[in-house]
Amino acid sequence: MLELTNVSSGYGETQVLYDLSVTAKAGRVLAVLGRNGAGKSTTLKTVMGLLPTRSGAISFDGATLPGKPYEVAKAGIGYVPETRDIFPSLTVRENLDLAAKRFEGSDWTIERVVELFPRLGERMSNGGTQLSGGEQQMLAIARALLMNPRLLILDEPTEGLAPVIVQQIHDKLMELKRGGLSMVLVEQNFGFATSLADDVAIVSKGQIVWTGSPAEIRADIEAQHRWLGV
Ligand SMILES: Nc1ncnc2c1ncn2[C@@H]1O[C@H](COP(=O)(O)OP(=O)(O)O)[C@@H](O)[C@H]1O
Ligand SMILES: [Mg+2]
Repeated sequence: MLELTNVSSGYGETQVLYDLSVTAKAGRVLAVLGRNGAGKSTTLKTVMGLLPTRSGAISFDGATLPGKPYEVAKAGIGYVPETRDIFPSLTVRENLDLAAKRFEGSDWTIERVVELFPRLGERMSNGGTQLSGGEQQMLAIARALLMNPRLLILDEPTEGLAPVIVQQIHDKLMELKRGGLSMVLVEQNFGFATSLADDVAIVSKGQIVWTGSPAEIRADIEAQHRWLGV
């Protein structure tokens, strides 16, 4: 579904990704793991067209990516950035409205995302800054869903969240997975990622160094130690 072939990318003079190749398959959840600074977020930003590709190819369902970020979203990739990027001066409803208006005809309506995240329904008239970290994450996911993605990519959705909220986010993502949504999940939380994933890829120094199943990485203590510092 999403295929990166020998992708190199970075920031200005600094190269971060070196011939990185990885595939996310339709109807599956790919967990991308790796130490801090390995290049996980850079990989997602490159897919989304937020960073230029220096070499290599990215294809999504046969179409060539990346384009401009808005075009990538239109092509069917929903992106929940690490920074969540909700509009703090707008209310929850306004944040949702903005996404819904730009993506009319989406399978996802505001009613449907509120059904998934009832907490957002209770916070509709609250401003972005009044939300807890967990609520901000829910809003960021809800907004991405309104853009009608066939593939949802999430950058460390559990970062900074209390365990009880992490569990809630886990259950929601599991619900989306059961509904057939394909996902790429970048995570530092090993247990969270491997319990949701069908496939696992590990990034180190801008390259994929390990691929396999959740059961294989759970059993491979040496790989965990070597690539994840677990
Ligand atoms: N905006 C930036 N400008 C320059 N270097 C950056 C920038 N963002 C990240 N980097 C560098 O790119 C490397 C990979 O970062 P990143 O993809 O964010 O890692 P990860 O998400 O795996 O923790 C790091 O060495 C980081 O310092
Ligand atoms: Mg990151």
